[in-house]
Amino acid sequence: MSTTTSKSVIYPGSFDPITNGHENVIERSLDLFEKVFVAVAKTSSHDKQSLFNPEERAEIIRELFLGQEGERVQVILFDGLLVDLAKELQTPVIIRGLRAVSDFEYEFQMAQMNRQLESEIETIFLAPDQQYSFLSSTLVREVATLGGDVSDFVSPLVLKKMSERL
Ligand code: PNS
Repeated sequence: MSTTTSKSVIYPGSFDPITNGHENVIERSLDLFEKVFVAVAKTSSHDKQSLFNPEERAEIIRELFLGQEGERVQVILFDGLLVDLAKELQTPVIIRGLRAVSDFEYEFQMAQMNRQLESEIETIFLAPDQQYSFLSSTLVREVATLGGDVSDFVSPLVLKKMSERL
């Protein structure tokens, strides 16, 4: 695996559900890499009360990027360590969105741990558009569960799936 020649990148996360902020990071990644593997984790470091199961989350993202699917955006469900997925996909570059300084500690810890586990892994942090700097799946889930309007924060498809679920 060589980072310098990587044309693809892995964008891992829980995506429960995928928000406009996540979509923004995927679009930005497509400006930098030929292919983006959106990797939906079956186990997350901060597992919370879930809205969709991992299979459903992956299916929603596939539907969202249908035009790109099979070409530049590939959605993958994974179990186990992210570094093992990176080896399997021959893609040593991981992208994570960094919304605010508060994200930094957790993200930096993960990046260092992943590098410790596999020295060739590089983590790149992308800043999403400023309008998404407050946005998180956790808040979207909470607001929607309590009857709030989340239409500004997720795609219409995600909104529909959420209303069906709630
Ligand atoms: O969207 P999230 O919940 O912040 O994503 C966290 C995720 C899924 C990227 C992280 O928990 C992860 O990589 N899980 C896979 C298991 C693993 O490799 N754990 C060690 C991370 S240092």
